[in-house]
Amino acid sequence: MAMAKFQTCLSIFFVTFLFTSLVSATFYQNISPDQLRSREKLTHLRFYFHELITNEKPSLIIIDPPKVMSNSPLPFGSMVVIEDPLTIGPDVESKRIGKAQGFYLSATQRAGLDLEIVMGMTLTFFEGEFNGSTLCVLGRNEIINPVREMPIIGGTGAFRFARGFVLARSVKVDYHKGDATVEYNIYVYHYPSTTSSSHHHFNEGLHFMSDPILNKI
Ligand SMILES: *[C@@H]1O[C@H](CO)[C@@H](O)[C@H](O)[C@H]1NC(C)=O
Repeated sequence: MAMAKFQTCLSIFFVTFLFTSLVSATFYQNISPDQLRSREKLTHLRFYFHELITNEKPSLIIIDPPKVMSNSPLPFGSMVVIEDPLTIGPDVESKRIGKAQGFYLSATQRAGLDLEIVMGMTLTFFEGEFNGSTLCVLGRNEIINPVREMPIIGGTGAFRFARGFVLARSVKVDYHKGDATVEYNIYVYHYPSTTSSSHHHFNEGLHFMSDPILNKI
């Protein structure tokens, strides 16, 4: 009796084991980081971010502001959507090297003019080796501080595996109009594409694994 029970347990164990190993084998495998063609490198980028409110075509819109009494220009819960130009110099007419697309949320209930926002955005670049590549920023931004720091939480293209941080420093703010120019200094670790992004090793990822079950369907 005990023996039969033991055998049942054993066979359940083996079936489970076989099943999990088959299933797991079909959707992941370990690969060695040595297979990366490029080595991780550290890049510093500096450019200028412009919020253009008084333009013919403003670079941001405020989404349906919450109906609360507040002396804050952006009451708690406000959301702003941006598509801001990034330029090589502090002058908005200088060369455009990319754009910032995303949102920010007013995230403090404290009254007053010193905004605390949470920003989430994608920085897309148009130039040189970074053309078409993006960086993702998500972090807290207390506007009153001369320099704010936000994390870089990822990237695409030449910025795959990106990690790093942004230092944002306001260089020109028109408090009446709301227009602002902010210097961005970014320090980021990433794996650059060796040639053009289409030849990167990871593009083979989807057909990288041979699948013993799917191949037979
Ligand atoms: C960036 O890439 C786009 C699309 O691939 C291309 O049309 C454009 O000429 C490139 N720009 C530069 C400056 O290389």
